[in-house]
Amino acid sequence: MMKIKSAVKFLITLTMTAAVSNAALANQGAISGEKATGINPVEVKSQTAVPGKKSIWGRDYFPNSTLITQDGEEVKFFDDLIEGKVVAINFIYTTCTDSCPLETARMKEVKAILGDRVGKDVHFYSISIDPKNDSPAVLQAYKKKFKIGPDWTFLTGNESDITNLRKKLGLYIDELNNEPGDLKDHNLNLIVGNQSTGRWMTRSPFENPHILASQLGDWLHNWKTASTSVNSYANAPRLRKLLPGEQLFRTRCSSCHGIGKESVGPDLFAVTENRDRVWLTRWLKEPDKMLAEKDPLAVSLLNRFKIPMPNMRLTDQDVEDVIGYLTAETERLK
Ligand code: HEC
Repeated sequence: MMKIKSAVKFLITLTMTAAVSNAALANQGAISGEKATGINPVEVKSQTAVPGKKSIWGRDYFPNSTLITQDGEEVKFFDDLIEGKVVAINFIYTTCTDSCPLETARMKEVKAILGDRVGKDVHFYSISIDPKNDSPAVLQAYKKKFKIGPDWTFLTGNESDITNLRKKLGLYIDELNNEPGDLKDHNLNLIVGNQSTGRWMTRSPFENPHILASQLGDWLHNWKTASTSVNSYANAPRLRKLLPGEQLFRTRCSSCHGIGKESVGPDLFAVTENRDRVWLTRWLKEPDKMLAEKDPLAVSLLNRFKIPMPNMRLTDQDVEDVIGYLTAETERLK
């Protein structure tokens, strides 16, 4: 929860200071907090990132480690992945059932908003922090499960190289190493940046996808590239008074679910009529436990959708609110 809050705080600060190009970096230290080691904001103060001027974070800052793509192709981190590019990088592992599917689904939304710019002037990378299990073939299968096309690259590599990369990018949490093998609490942040201008910042993948897309597509490009996508920031949902359940649905569920269409997860149209209320209430509270107990309905849904629904840590009130919204929205669409 803290992370999400600090991301919101950061966003407000960012909005106020976006004109000062290195303010975001100074704040980046704040958002990474004491847990992550990152690009040292003190280094930055004296050097403003002027477009056209060579970035202070170049080849001598970033390792040029060899990574392997989901297709088994070898690439160099600096030369091939980030040099001169606007990038979004996150760290995942494919057996993670908690935060990674959420992040992946949210980044998919951001990618959809950016449209065909992804792979051309905005580059998406997901790097595995569990290279022992995540072979190129495993990454390929994961991409397929999430229906992710070729313009978003998943990478694996040597474990120590990847740890070093995470440190350099400021997404590393030391405590992770306290319990070897327990990768569960890996940092939820996403790092976005422009290597040539030296602007880097950590973002929460739980942020509004339209805001993330606009940062990647406009802010990091100094607004130089006009957005060609029809599905642009202008089409972001209007701010109006939302039912509490609607707000919750938009921020926590809509990256995987539609109401009236199937997405990463099932279509939730009429789900409150079709499912037993006790089952539904419990599912929303602890889908992970029901899957672990092999609840027959949960298992048959998982067999169909392949991705386990994460435990969203909803309170009883949240569950009630979201059920209220799903019922109301079904009525509205009927
Ligand atoms: C990371 C993707 C993801 C997120 C986020 C997510 N779900 Fe799901 N959900 C799934 C998948 C996938 C299934 C199918 C069951 C499975 O594979 O575990 C599912 C199943 C369900 C079902 C059962 C559908 C049925 O036909 O019975 C409901 C209800 C549901 N989700 C509601 C929600 C709500 C409400 C939220 C937000 C609070 C949410 N989900 C967030 C992926 C997600």
